[in-house]
Amino acid sequence: MAVILGLESSCDETAAALVTSDRRIIAHRLAGQEERHRPYGGVVPEIAARAHAEKMTPLVEAVFAEAGARLSDVDAIAATAGPGLIGGVMVGLVTGKALALASGKPLIAVNHLEGHALSPRLVDPDLDFPYLLLLVSGGHCQILRVNGVGAYERLATTIDDAAGEAFDKTAKLLGLGFPGGPAVEKAAESGDPHAVPLPRPLAGSKEPHFSFAGLKSAVLRASESGQYGAEDIAASFQMAVIDCLRDRLNHILDRTERLAALVVAGGVAANGAVRAMLQELAGERDMRFVAPPLWLCTDNAAMIAWAGAERFAAGLNDPLDIPARPRWPLDETASAVRGAGVKA
Ligand SMILES: Nc1ncnc2c1ncn2[C@@H]1O[C@H](COP(=O)(O)OP(=O)(O)OP(=O)(O)O)[C@@H](O)[C@H]1O
Ligand SMILES: [Mg+2]
Repeated sequence: MAVILGLESSCDETAAALVTSDRRIIAHRLAGQEERHRPYGGVVPEIAARAHAEKMTPLVEAVFAEAGARLSDVDAIAATAGPGLIGGVMVGLVTGKALALASGKPLIAVNHLEGHALSPRLVDPDLDFPYLLLLVSGGHCQILRVNGVGAYERLATTIDDAAGEAFDKTAKLLGLGFPGGPAVEKAAESGDPHAVPLPRPLAGSKEPHFSFAGLKSAVLRASESGQYGAEDIAASFQMAVIDCLRDRLNHILDRTERLAALVVAGGVAANGAVRAMLQELAGERDMRFVAPPLWLCTDNAAMIAWAGAERFAAGLNDPLDIPARPRWPLDETASAVRGAGVKA
């Protein structure tokens, strides 16, 4: 049994966790920065990096105190090395390097997206490779075939915005506050999902990819028209996103070999209506549906420690000069898609 220390700092959550290779979360701590970014309605990279620099080492101290453990009890140190806001990534990675150097234990540089992708296996010991993964977060919207640790085949991605980004922008437009995803979900509960006619971009397209930019513009027009209440727009928007996710998943499911499990990960997986749709879809396709608990969907260090445990078991360590990477696709062989900008 190995004990892995995980560090996460790629966006606006600073987090540390101790997780074992037999799936015990010994301790996990997280310091959010919402109140620092709220005045700007979004994450400010410089403010985020400074906050990570303040909070990271005290959080490491706190998880060791909670676990009654010391650095010498750890078998490896896993830190997010990208993708993300580079100033923040550097704080966590350099902390991980320093702890690895001080302890003489191996460093494992974790791709944050691999943290999300493997997180369902932390809570479900029966989830075996390969599985079909919908990765829906603040920066990504992808369908991947997960063949094993470090073995990801990208089947679809967004050509513009990520699904979580669309939730955040919709919340901002509707004045629902920050962070946007949970605010839109809450407003949608008291709205009519059929009240506002909104597009389903790329639904029915021959290509497998996603697009959310047009939906965001339609939300802006609906909001500016003054015809609809914020709750109805939120509910109609959420329904449109769900329809797009279902359509694109069906497109892939119709064209690929059936896998045993449909898995969701990333912040948008915390959305109850999204989960309900995926559960139903998995049922229709005779697949098992696996979703991490809500707290494991958004950024946290337990998923980074777990990805570290999986990589450690596979003998995958990294040298101390490994760089921090602002961009780092899970499937490095996947080609950029039309109009994809930075989201390939
Ligand atoms: N209940 C919810 N409904 C819809 N979206 C949600 C919900 N909760 C969180 N989100 C969205 O999830 C995103 C945050 O997820 P996560 O922390 O995984 O993303 P990230 O780390 O910013 O991006 P990435 O993992 O791609 O680098 C935000 O865009 C947020 O609005
Ligand atoms: Mg994330």
